[in-house]
Amino acid sequence: MSFNIAIDGPAGAGKSTIAKKIARELNFIYVDTGAMYRAVTLYLMRQKIPLEDKTGIREACHQIRIRIEYQNGEQQVILNDENVTGRLRTEEVGKMTSAFAANAHVRAALLDIQRDMASKENIVMDGRDIGTHVLPDAQLKIYLTASPDARAMRRYLELQKKGIDCSLDIIKKDIIQRDKQDMNREIAPLKKAEDAVLVDSSNMDIDQVVAHITALYQDAKIIVAKTAGFCFGVKRAVEKVYQQVESSKSPIYTFGPIIHNEEVVKDLESKGVKVIHCMEELRKLKNGTVIIRSHGVPENVCRLIREKGLELIDATCPYVKKIHSIVKRESNAGSHILIIGNADHPEVEGIKGWCNAKVDVIGTNREAENFVMDCNTPLCIVSQTTFNYNKFNKLVEIISKKGYDILVLNTICNATEKRQTEARAIAAEVNGMIVIGGSHSSNTQRLFEICKEECENTYYIQTLDDLDVQELHSMSCVGITAGASTPNNIIEEVQKNVRNEF
Ligand code: F3S
Repeated sequence: MSFNIAIDGPAGAGKSTIAKKIARELNFIYVDTGAMYRAVTLYLMRQKIPLEDKTGIREACHQIRIRIEYQNGEQQVILNDENVTGRLRTEEVGKMTSAFAANAHVRAALLDIQRDMASKENIVMDGRDIGTHVLPDAQLKIYLTASPDARAMRRYLELQKKGIDCSLDIIKKDIIQRDKQDMNREIAPLKKAEDAVLVDSSNMDIDQVVAHITALYQDAKIIVAKTAGFCFGVKRAVEKVYQQVESSKSPIYTFGPIIHNEEVVKDLESKGVKVIHCMEELRKLKNGTVIIRSHGVPENVCRLIREKGLELIDATCPYVKKIHSIVKRESNAGSHILIIGNADHPEVEGIKGWCNAKVDVIGTNREAENFVMDCNTPLCIVSQTTFNYNKFNKLVEIISKKGYDILVLNTICNATEKRQTEARAIAAEVNGMIVIGGSHSSNTQRLFEICKEECENTYYIQTLDDLDVQELHSMSCVGITAGASTPNNIIEEVQKNVRNEF
């Protein structure tokens, strides 16, 4: 997969100078579109095809192959295997180029060649419609501009240097007029692509602009999922533990590891937070604070904590808490509760513990098909918050056909769905994908599976130590996502190191 940088902007903004410098700096190919038009013109002139012969031009365009090569650091334009670089700057070719460039067949032929080049090589291309038309999928789009005053002054100084007498006012007027024409022309009008980064070089010199765009390139090579890392519920739970560490003098316990992340659990352990795993251990506690993690716990756990006179800090995610109150209310009203989820998951065990009537858990089509209950009892269906949405609908569909009196409450948390959708989209775009998360985190494992479906080079890591950055060297674009229990500092550390490797 190649990386493309599209630079558009008004005349006099320094696009080609900047584009060439960036290409040199990044070892990319600078696609000189002007030289390509000249090469086509040269071919048509050699074939003696007049401007008016539209059919002749169309047919000739099918015969044209253009490549750009570098020899001793100098760009060479190869037309049908002939190096024509030295022949493109003649006055004759120059004069005819703008006329042939307006021909739709010429433009279409060059568009194909340019896109083909962009699909195979890392390139920088500048123009007026590169980001909007020629390379709409370029990974980095820049709209390079400068105020008319700044551009006029640059031009003025340039002409002065050459000993040409000129007026700053006239130059400025010309620039404003040219901008207007370029923006309103029929063919390839100048326009900023919606996703282009605006770079105003009015107060920057060339090196500063190059450095700025190079930094943007480094960022664009790494796509970090916005949804990576702690979800709202996990963040809230972890913060509660750290707050407690700061303020409490008595022992602090979490009922189960606060999150599925060994680093965080180890860090808390070093600050004196102990993990208890079962009711037995809970019964032995004499004093202290017990914090319930975001997955929640059965009601009898909370009861026991209170009965023992321990302080209870309930960090159950509010979305999970809502399921607890639903199943409690509905089971108290006599409903049979059916939880769609993974029976072994602590969240599901917790939900079960708030049901005061018959409760079942199903997670597969077969279990749904085999499910039977008393026809005279109403059925209330809820889901584990992290369950797959489509799978939930499928299982509900199977149960619905059984003719029970059903109340279906979709309690899936959309944080998971959003994270998975974003991860899939990023993995489809990059050629290396890093998924960060604890080895026991089921949502990270699922993220890994999703990314692997889209991107063969998907790596599952817990921390930076698991990542072989050498493997990323040949990649043009890398994506990063992380499970709901991955702390930001781990994501940032990975991101920083990956960036340094490029
Ligand atoms: Fe809560 Fe949703 Fe996270 S249920 S714990 S915010 S995944």
